[in-house]
Parts: sequence; C-alpha cells; structure tokens
Amino acid sequence: VIGTTGFVVAGQAGNNGLLRSKRPLPTPFTTPLPIPQVKRPARVQGGVEYYTLAQQARDVEILPGVRTRIWGYDGTFPGPTFHLRQGRQAVVELRNELEVPTSMHLHGGVTPPESDGYPTDLVNPVGKKEYTYPMQQRAATLWYHDHRMDFTAPQVWRGLAGMCLVTDTEEENLGLPADKYDVPLLLTDRAFDEDGSFLYPSLHHGPGVEKEYANGVLGDVILVNGAPWPVLEVDATRYRFRIVNGSNARRYELALEPAADLVQIGSDAGLLDKPRKHPSLTVTPGERFDVVVDFHDCPVGTEITLTNRLDGPVMRFKVVRQGPKSAPVPDKLVDIEKLDNPVVTRTFDFRTTTKHHGARMWTINGELFDAAKSLADPKLGTVEKWRISSDFHHPVHLHLAHFQVLSRGAGGPDARDAGWKDTVDVRPYEVVEVLARFDGYRGRYMMHCHNLEHEDMAMMANFFVG
Ligand code: C2O
Ligand code: CU
Repeated sequence: VIGTTGFVVAGQAGNNGLLRSKRPLPTPFTTPLPIPQVKRPARVQGGVEYYTLAQQARDVEILPGVRTRIWGYDGTFPGPTFHLRQGRQAVVELRNELEVPTSMHLHGGVTPPESDGYPTDLVNPVGKKEYTYPMQQRAATLWYHDHRMDFTAPQVWRGLAGMCLVTDTEEENLGLPADKYDVPLLLTDRAFDEDGSFLYPSLHHGPGVEKEYANGVLGDVILVNGAPWPVLEVDATRYRFRIVNGSNARRYELALEPAADLVQIGSDAGLLDKPRKHPSLTVTPGERFDVVVDFHDCPVGTEITLTNRLDGPVMRFKVVRQGPKSAPVPDKLVDIEKLDNPVVTRTFDFRTTTKHHGARMWTINGELFDAAKSLADPKLGTVEKWRISSDFHHPVHLHLAHFQVLSRGAGGPDARDAGWKDTVDVRPYEVVEVLARFDGYRGRYMMHCHNLEHEDMAMMANFFVG
C-alpha cells in the first residue's frame, strides 16, 4: 500500500520490476486532468507547416507542492499535441537543449527513413534536426517519443513523449465529438524519489540489474497527461478519448466503473470500419485506442472511474453539468481495404536469451539488434504475412508499415485487434499473424518490442523496404 491512496498499484504477472515511490503520494482524483498545449506552426509556407520544437529540462509540479525534473518537448510532459492534416506536409525543427543525444520518432507516422527517428540517427546536445512528415496518411491518433539507441526507456520515462492527431475530410464528415469533447489521454506510470525526482534503475549496471527488470520497469503512480490519478470534470454528453499507452512496460485492461461500454472507433493507425463495444480493453505499450464514452444519461454528480483491471484505478470522470445533445456515433465509419494476397510469409520469434555474457537480453530470431543487419527486405507497395511468436508479453511495433491482424493462435483476431494497427500485443507462447503493407518510402526501417526496456535490451531488428 502506497502513500495515502489506500490502494495497491501492483506489479504485473511475471514482472518483478516494480519501483516503489519513496515519498507520500497524492489522494487520487484530486488533480485536474491537464490537457497538453496544441502546437502551432511557426509559419505556413507553400502549403507546408513549419514547426519548431525544443527538448528542454524543466522542474515541474507533478505531485502537489513538489518539483520534479523532467525532460520534455517544449519543456512539458507530455509534450504539446500536434494537429496535422492528411495531405499537408509538416516540417518539425527539433532543437536538443538537453545534455544527452536524442532521436525523435513519430509512432504510426508514414515517414521517409531520414525522418523516422532511427536510434542511431542522433541529434546531439545543442544540435538540431529537421524532421519531415509528408502526412500522406489517414486520420489517426499518433504519438511521438524519444528513440535513442539503448536509452529510449529512461529518456521516455523522463518525459520525452507527446501526441499527434492526424485528421482528414472523411473523419470530419462523421460528426464525432470534437474540440473540448475530443480529449487525449496519455497513460504512463512513474515512481518518485524522496526529493520528488523520477526514480529509474540503472539498467546498464551489469549482471543482476537486468534480471530484476527483465520484463520492464513499472512505477507505482499512474499519470494521465502527466498528472497522478487525475479527475476530469465532464459535461453530460459524448466524449472522444484518444487513449495512448505511453508506459514503458505497463499493460492496462481498461474498464469503466460503474460498468459502461467503451465504444471503440479507432485503433493505432486509423478509424475503424464500424464502432465496436468493449466491456474492457487491453492496451499494451505503444498501442492506441480511440473510444467514445457517452455521459448523456449520467445525472450531474455522477462519478465514473477508469480503472486498470490488472491492478488499480487510472483516473476519474465527474459529471458536473448538462451538456449539448450530441449525435450518436455513426454505424459506419470509414472504408477499410481488407489486405490479402501476401507475396511472402516471414516468421519472427521474440525471445529472451542469457547467451550474451550471462546477462539477460532480448532477441528477434535469435539475434540481438545489429544496425548493420536486416531481417527482411519487403518490396515497396507489397503485402506480406508476418508470423510473430513470443516467450513473453511483447507489444510488437513496426515502423512505416500499417498492418491488419489475421489470427491469434488457432483463432481469429481478438475484438480489440480490429482496424489498421502498427503495434500488436503478442502474449506469451502465442503466435500472431499480421498482414502488413509496406507503403510509402524505400529505405531502412525497424521493428521492435515496445516494452521499452526490452527495446533497450536489443529486441529490435531492421527491415529494408526496396
Ligand atoms: Cu513508439 Cu520504434 O516506437
Ligand atoms: Cu518485449
């Protein structure tokens, strides 16, 4: 039991990597949910939006009355939310004002390789880099985060993550909840030291440490948009919530209490063909779920908790006033082309090893990440079937390529696997098949486990689109 909250945020199955905060924690549901600033372009020229973004260290108040040093985009955690539009190119000039190298990846972005945030494509301290996002992609909930080789996990833990919402005309015509009724929810877990700083183990301190944190680092405080167990005051109307699991390793099985459906309208890389109701939704690191929650019938004063069934509460909604009557979610959302006719089937096995100097590392097809190697060479514009197997929970993410889940084990996809995905939850000893289309650009891209500690412990591989 931690602090004064009276509930336990536990470790998770097979995971002993829980860090416990060394200071009292706030009463849940007292901090208002912060909404990250919307990023405005510095200028628009020839139809291209130019942005500048700075990575900065700042002392911010996360726990009441306490200062926490973060590393944030524009000095905030989460970073500002980008609102981009299909067909309108965005150029982001990133300035690194931190003391460490960084690399920025737009997760879910269909991005030329030189702007993809490859782990060794570093922006050194006081340096800058221009990232070009052509935005030839459908409306979707994307997010951006640090991707530095070997240090992604600690750098994201310190705050280098933000959201990027892509819109298009097809989405706009659906009349979905918008503006203040369209709320990003970036879920992360953290732990705090006595002085208020973030706790994070040094994973590079050799044998032993990496065993304790073999399955990733968990914190005992759940932050939504950077605030601990926040509360959002809502109108009695429909809301759209863009749920992003930005946690290093924590899984969530999200549900509302008292029970109500989460109506999913989108997945990682776009809207669904039709809405799908879920009593609960499992969300693994890197995944996004775009959901609508209807508070119309909730009397003023109603409190609804968003909870993680695997351990404890996440945040609360409090209905404080009547709201506008809003249109129900349309029965039909967008057309989704069903991928088929893969030109090749490839297999990828995600597995642990201790073969490397006795330290526990994570491999794909028996290989530790090697920047000079490639495990696949898909042809531009083709569809491939990738069979992914694993020995643990691995949220498997592909850069560039969006995919559709074809099967899990002997069965079809789960209800939560619908739509265009870029990250898929592969559970222990499960085989998941996806159909991926390698559209967009030629060049070097990567796949990796989005458990960020696994990623840093070498569970990544290149593929070359040719
Ligand atoms: Cu969000 Cu390569 O990752
Ligand atoms: Cu993993």
